[in-house]
Amino acid sequence: MGQGASRAAEGTLLPGTTGRDLIAAAMPPRGAIDGGSVTGIDSAVPDQACRDRPAATAQPDALPSKARQRICLLGATGTIGRATGGALVRRGHDVVCFVRARPGAPASVAPPDPAGRWDGASVRVVDVADPQSLSRDGFAGEPFDAVVSCMASRTGAPGDAWAIDHRAHLTVLDAAQRAGVAHFVLLSAICVQKPLLAFQQAKLAFEAALIESGLRYSIVRPTAFFKSLSGQIERVRQGKPFLLFGDGALTACTPISDRDLADYIAGCLEDESRWNRVLPIGGPGEAITPRQQGEALFALLGRPPRFRSVPVGLLDAIIAGLSLAGALAPSLAAKAELARIGRYYATESMLVLNPQTGRYDAAATPSTGTETLFDFYRDVVNGSAAPDRGDHAVF
Ligand SMILES: NC(=O)c1ccc[n+]([C@@H]2O[C@H](COP(=O)([O-])OP(=O)(O)OC[C@H]3O[C@@H](n4cnc5c(N)ncnc54)[C@H](OP(=O)(O)O)[C@@H]3O)[C@@H](O)[C@H]2O)c1
Repeated sequence: MGQGASRAAEGTLLPGTTGRDLIAAAMPPRGAIDGGSVTGIDSAVPDQACRDRPAATAQPDALPSKARQRICLLGATGTIGRATGGALVRRGHDVVCFVRARPGAPASVAPPDPAGRWDGASVRVVDVADPQSLSRDGFAGEPFDAVVSCMASRTGAPGDAWAIDHRAHLTVLDAAQRAGVAHFVLLSAICVQKPLLAFQQAKLAFEAALIESGLRYSIVRPTAFFKSLSGQIERVRQGKPFLLFGDGALTACTPISDRDLADYIAGCLEDESRWNRVLPIGGPGEAITPRQQGEALFALLGRPPRFRSVPVGLLDAIIAGLSLAGALAPSLAAKAELARIGRYYATESMLVLNPQTGRYDAAATPSTGTETLFDFYRDVVNGSAAPDRGDHAVF
């Protein structure tokens, strides 16, 4: 079985289909599956963390000066953290990004880009797992109004998820309370409403601690990000079929763009209806299935649709094989967990779950923003946008 698992891990599962393709088809949820590499930002150089962000000069969303706040932003080097930093700065908030030291980072932190693309933001190198570093290098005895956290484990593996999504957040929460922070805005995920995976349990455990803390909280649980629904653009462009699980209608979601989500997160600071609430949130429009995503992509490329259906049982076989082999090799156990994550997204919708019926409900899923996935696909196809995906390095 171990041999079978590693063949599945490295080789071809269906003609023209690798394990990597399957995970891309299964809507990878996070950086691990998205690759674990930093995309868009070289976070080894802290002052670069803010370089790609939108210009702060126009400030179309700027608030009256009395509503401006001093914000600690975590996860500023990630996909949504980058966008959220931009949204906060555009509103006129004073943003301080706590980023981790990375190999090759300079010993001291340069100030933000002097060209002013990120006026109002600064960057501090902080070990978020270390209370001393948080208070000495991070909050540093200064007043902060809020913490906005877009931080999450990049691997999604159980140990990393508990270390970052749970324990590091607990450490930050404690330090924030000591620093007199009044509001904690947390980027979570809609999938925690049906927690079958370790990283979901870790997120839920911190959500519970935050709610219990007495601090004002806004827990934002978004649906699927565009980057997680863009894994097949390249293979389709290369003339390969779009991979579907089952008939391609097992799941649906209302995708949300980075920018729309960032605006929603930033809005939690001033919109009282988002205080002390758990906030599921999707993008605009109808819920769409993977088959509809494929159809849209072929239409944009001007090609007739070509699909290949993959039985969910194939993922089950991979999970079983990797789990058995994982008893001998921890690296294969980690891959088994990543395959379980892939299976979850192949079979569970990113919509509000009705606890009475146990069914996902598109109509009950709140929406925000204006940017649609198919507009994004169009931009990618015509070269004016690129998915922030990194390498799908699961198998
Ligand atoms: N993908 C989806 O469709 C989807 C849908 C709903 C919800 N979500 C959730 O959204 C959240 C954020 O997603 P994302 O795609 O923006 O994440 P991401 O791009 O992977 O970014 C993660 C951020 O967390 C930081 N981080 C990770 N480990 C750290 C550590 N040990 N110390 C300090 N910082 C650390 C990273 O910093 P470095 O740059 O230093 O690594 C990075 O800034 C996740 O919780 C995810 O579950 C995702």
